Amino acid sequence: MYTAEQQRAFYELSKELLKEGPLPSREASEAVMRDLRDAILYHEWRYYVLNDPVVSDFEYDGLFKQLQNLEAHYPELISPDSPTQRVSADLTEEFPSVEHLSPMLSLANSYDADDLVEFDEQVKKLTMSPVDAEVEYVVEPKYDGGTIALVYENDLLARASTRGNGVMGEEITANARVIRSIPLKAAFSQSGFKKVELRGEVLIRKDIFNQMNRKREAEGLALFANPRNAATGGLRIKDPKEAAQRGLEAFVYQMAFAETTDGKDGLGTLSTHDQSIELLGRLGFKIPDEERKVCRGIKEVIDFCMHWQARREDFPYEIDGMVVKVNRRDLQERCGFTSHHPRWAIAFKFQAKQATTKLLNVEFQVGKVGSITPVAKLEPVPLAGVTISSVSLHNEDFIRTKDLRIGDTVLVERAGDVIPYIVKSMAELRTGSEKPIEFPRYCPINDTSEPVELVREEGEAAWRCPSCVCGAQDLQRIIWHVSKDAMDIEGLGKSIVERFFEMGWLRNPADIYRLPYEQIADMEGFGAKSVANLRASVEKAKRNPMHRLLHSLSIHHLGQKASKLLAAGVSHVLDLKDWTEEDFTHIKDIGPVVAESVMAFFRQPSNISMLRDMEELGVNLRQTEEDQPKTASADAPLAGKSILFTGTLQTLGRKEAQEKAEAAGARNVSAVSAKLDILVVGAEAGSKLKKARELGTVQILTEEEFIQIVG
Ligand code: IVH
Repeated sequence: MYTAEQQRAFYELSKELLKEGPLPSREASEAVMRDLRDAILYHEWRYYVLNDPVVSDFEYDGLFKQLQNLEAHYPELISPDSPTQRVSADLTEEFPSVEHLSPMLSLANSYDADDLVEFDEQVKKLTMSPVDAEVEYVVEPKYDGGTIALVYENDLLARASTRGNGVMGEEITANARVIRSIPLKAAFSQSGFKKVELRGEVLIRKDIFNQMNRKREAEGLALFANPRNAATGGLRIKDPKEAAQRGLEAFVYQMAFAETTDGKDGLGTLSTHDQSIELLGRLGFKIPDEERKVCRGIKEVIDFCMHWQARREDFPYEIDGMVVKVNRRDLQERCGFTSHHPRWAIAFKFQAKQATTKLLNVEFQVGKVGSITPVAKLEPVPLAGVTISSVSLHNEDFIRTKDLRIGDTVLVERAGDVIPYIVKSMAELRTGSEKPIEFPRYCPINDTSEPVELVREEGEAAWRCPSCVCGAQDLQRIIWHVSKDAMDIEGLGKSIVERFFEMGWLRNPADIYRLPYEQIADMEGFGAKSVANLRASVEKAKRNPMHRLLHSLSIHHLGQKASKLLAAGVSHVLDLKDWTEEDFTHIKDIGPVVAESVMAFFRQPSNISMLRDMEELGVNLRQTEEDQPKTASADAPLAGKSILFTGTLQTLGRKEAQEKAEAAGARNVSAVSAKLDILVVGAEAGSKLKKARELGTVQILTEEEFIQIVG
């Protein structure tokens, strides 16, 4: 339909059109409007036909709004094929087409408080309300799923359909019938209705979606891009049994048509939108509940919208905005409709979570254990309230799997507090001048004349610089050493460590404990008070338990849990230098990889002298009370045993049982292996019991026997 070259041109054109500028003259507008129409049609094709948009919804809406704006100024230039003149989407022939009882329109969009104030003014004008009167609005979430229309006749679900082109939809009744939150029967007749059409949205809860994707990953199936795709796809699955597996749910948010038992229009019997939603709730439908509010005046509307914009991620379902509706039906009627949307409602769209931009360059950073991380430098792009100009590309495999190239247009996503990441590159927008990303073979940070070859160990994703000669890793190790998860030295942030490092005061973590405080007090940005605070937190860190110190040493593979296990097993850190591999692997949960890595650390004379320095400077290297194993004494009934619960326990809750086991000296594990000592079996135990029997070395207990042992 479009050649690659045309696609590139439309993409560039769209970005150009999205730049803000003054209203063009009538003469200039003709060409701009043609460009806007063409670009919008292109993006509609990408969105509706290919299901693979190249611009964000926000950008698409921006183009649409510009066209609407120009058309409002120059109505004589409206062309009959303008996307604003239709309510459309391509229908497929897979499902029978059915006509909606009333056309399904879109919503106009707003993006900020000013837009909402403007909407309110317009509503007041249309309803001829006094300017100082407050209009009552209902605000509810704008669900981001698949639109559904439900027809009930004589209290029975008669038909369900998708939105389709707004006039005709696809009949998907069989799939709707497997959605538990859609009642098959609802007592509309009690309110005098014979036939109604409801509008709603089919969704998948975010946690269920994640679970489903994890399962698909384990089964080697393609992953769904997002809950919306999974939901809209789920509605159109051919086999309702399969649709039932998708965890679909439906919210209803509109009563679009109603006919009374005596054949009259029934919508008039409900005087407000809120009443109709309440009625649907009473009839057993899922409705927007706490997240719906009747607001007096636009100020309350704005506050509620902002409140949800900030809390969007807390909502269990994907929402991409709020919908604001005039509450009173008589006022709605006075507002009326355009061909595209009702004038009594508007969507308040949240800031976009996705945006497209250019991948300009890739830089490489080194971490505390020498891992080389590629970082993409992007053309700065605003995304959900911040400007993104660089994102991590994690490792070489990530770059290869996503087929990323320098110069590519990439789709970036940032959801809530989640770190921004590249979703994909858009191969169809390539010009041929993109360059492959060369992953370095030699350490790219090293600025000495001594090249260091990178290594990638089996089973690891990262390339590492095995022997740093330039000091870059030392800096990273110091930054890690003072961080919250390690020694937790408050007042020593990354940038301060960098400054001290540049001053030559820090070469390794031991130097933290001999900082020249008098000189620091003279530095810009420091005062007597901040230096005193810094000194106090360094002093405090000296008394940390041994496991924190171990964790702070940047030993590859040695995480917090393993650090605690080691600290529980030695009275002084330096005792570890005499440990053999067996000494390490003797500890449950410590494997040969961690063992080798810790041994390598203690083989290095420089590390030993650093630890000795620390001790001399007052840092605690000994086991503290906090380091001692929490488990009960050696004569506890299950001392040193590993234990696993399987099946349904009758008397104890799973958590309770695990706590009892721990109190009795046992360690809870999650899988049956040769290292497992005890398996406690509840009702309907399955594969774990079988496996334990096969091993023959596992002691198998009933729940009763377990209770007798732990008391
Ligand atoms: S009311 C005549 N309310 O947004 C007004 N729509 O462009 C009809 N949507 O795909 C829409 N949540 O499915 C309305 N609370 C809500 C909504 C909502 C999501 C969707 C709707 C349609 C789009 C409207």
